[in-house]
Amino acid sequence: MRRHEHLYYVLDHPEISDSQYDALMRQLQAIEESHPELVTADSPTQRVGGKPREGFVKVRHSSAMLSLDNALNEGELLDFDRRVRELLAGDPFQYTAEVKLDGLSMAAHYDSGLFVKAITRGDGLEGEDVTENARTIRALPLRVPNALPRFEVRGEVVMLTKNFQKLNEEREREGLPRYANPRNSAAGSLRVLEPAVTAARQLNFFAYFLLVDGKPFYPGHWESLEAMRQMGFKVNPRSCVCADAGALFSFCQSMEEARDTLPYEIDGVVAKVDSVAQQDRLGWTAKAPRWAIAFKFPPRQAETVVENIEVQVGRTGALTPVARLRPVAISGVTVSNATLHNEDEIQRLDLRIGDTVLIERSGDVIPKVVRVVRHGEHRVPFTMPARCPICGGDVVRAEGEAASRCVNSNCPARLKETILHFAARGVMDIDGMGEALADQLVDRGLVDGVAGIYSLTLDQLLGLERMGPKSAEKILQNIDRSRAQPLARVLNGLGIPFVGERTAQILADTFGDLDKIAAADSDALQTANEVGPKVAQSIRGFFDDARNRDLVEVLRAAGLQFTQEIRGPVGGPLTGSTFVLTGTLPTMTREQAKARIEALGGKVTDSVSKKTTYVVAGEAAGSKLTKAEKLGVPVLDEAGLLGLLDSSKSI
Ligand code: IVH
Repeated sequence: MRRHEHLYYVLDHPEISDSQYDALMRQLQAIEESHPELVTADSPTQRVGGKPREGFVKVRHSSAMLSLDNALNEGELLDFDRRVRELLAGDPFQYTAEVKLDGLSMAAHYDSGLFVKAITRGDGLEGEDVTENARTIRALPLRVPNALPRFEVRGEVVMLTKNFQKLNEEREREGLPRYANPRNSAAGSLRVLEPAVTAARQLNFFAYFLLVDGKPFYPGHWESLEAMRQMGFKVNPRSCVCADAGALFSFCQSMEEARDTLPYEIDGVVAKVDSVAQQDRLGWTAKAPRWAIAFKFPPRQAETVVENIEVQVGRTGALTPVARLRPVAISGVTVSNATLHNEDEIQRLDLRIGDTVLIERSGDVIPKVVRVVRHGEHRVPFTMPARCPICGGDVVRAEGEAASRCVNSNCPARLKETILHFAARGVMDIDGMGEALADQLVDRGLVDGVAGIYSLTLDQLLGLERMGPKSAEKILQNIDRSRAQPLARVLNGLGIPFVGERTAQILADTFGDLDKIAAADSDALQTANEVGPKVAQSIRGFFDDARNRDLVEVLRAAGLQFTQEIRGPVGGPLTGSTFVLTGTLPTMTREQAKARIEALGGKVTDSVSKKTTYVVAGEAAGSKLTKAEKLGVPVLDEAGLLGLLDSSKSI
């Protein structure tokens, strides 16, 4: 499992599928369950996040974690280089240059090859002990074989842009405020009191210093990066040795160009004099080393005027206000739109049409409005339209939701988005079915949903704009090929709210059959991992709608894959039993109880029904306990649960 963690999280080169890894994890959990004496601090099971904490303890760093001086342009970079050359008085030297990751720095300590402590940078002298949270970062090895007896690795904790976007989408759905950028969300995620939350946020760690007793261990920085890579740490591949300032500046330029294509945010390049002996000669100022510099990229921000606010309609019918901007260039890209997410966001920004705003472009995120800089003279307030701007249907904002939605499921805007989602790469993968085609298909009434895709004819396609016989045939071929896509993709393609790629895969692995999923009641659905009442309800709601059942029949007739082999959880003595946990247990957290039940094949759900096997009640158990008593579901206390777990193990 360690090898697979390293392949996946450090080398980005997995050899087994996620579900195979999950199966290994469950197997290990089951073994540790029956042999608790085998559980070690560096076991992969310890990465899922244990007990919540009360607060963080302050810890002193082995040596200061200071910051860097900045160079904002080529001239300042050359100034830095000149100072280094002067101070080294003609000695030959080299730079090691690395990308400057936009996250937060952290020191990870190892003793006898084992990860023992992690400390945030804090004020540079003293940081916070975030050991338990850092343990959940899969790129951080918990054990380093044949390592130095004691050492420390410093590096950057970052959140990948795609995880950041996913997190913000989730937060929006749950009515929580969005994080401003990946750095803030990485910092927030590392400093939550509940390690299980950190685990779910999937943070990453890139190593850039190897220290023993607070000092570099190897004579050269490049050597040190190489050594950490060998030890199993993730070291950013975008680093190089530069012989002089010219080479260094070219590296800065090429990284600035690559910036938008990287899966994480970088805000510059860090250059370090490679030789540690020379670093010592150069020394430090009060706040930063004289042997290193941060070449900062220009901020991807600019001011411009909001000329209008328009509303777009997405696949789920959500109305997204979009600011139409006076076009402005931000690091080489002309920006004329920025998303405003929802009504609350506009209120929070106190934004009105005519205002001058600060716009930011970050990663592949759509540009966003950071704040209002100046009020316009004639400010026009924005109100969410009461009718859908596309179809005129009713717009409803459900209680507790941030989004207003068009409720007409035949709204052309929704249909187009639905088709684009269905055909997208990673879903049904119908190459060529892009925006231009989806628009025409819907506008001309050739399709009224994804079902229509499979009955398109060559003649129909040939009648469209900019469609030659070659591309039309190619598209029909691609549509035909998509019939072979596996069940999980078909499920994802249906666009059931809350059923994305991962949940679709889990459902496919658990049930193996679309008809079984469509027929399952909420409790049965919740026997699948990670499927709670909210997701189950959404799936039920989808299949209870006659129009969706018709869609399923059309897709069946079109020959799509409705079954696959079941790759469910490895069975255990509690397979088939469902548990509901309520109240506070005396010694276990809910997460721990859940892990132990699941390790034996049991399933933990949120709501009590006749089919619940046991309710486990702790202190201050509420309505779930009452309901269990009413339905005659057996109730266990913690001792009862432990007894059951123990006796199950011997089966
Ligand atoms: S070296 C004394 N290397 O940038 C040397 N820092 O402005 C200090 N950072 O606090 C750090 N990537 O959070 C270094 N490859 C890299 C870096 C990096 C990102 C951050 C780090 C530091 C800040 C300095």
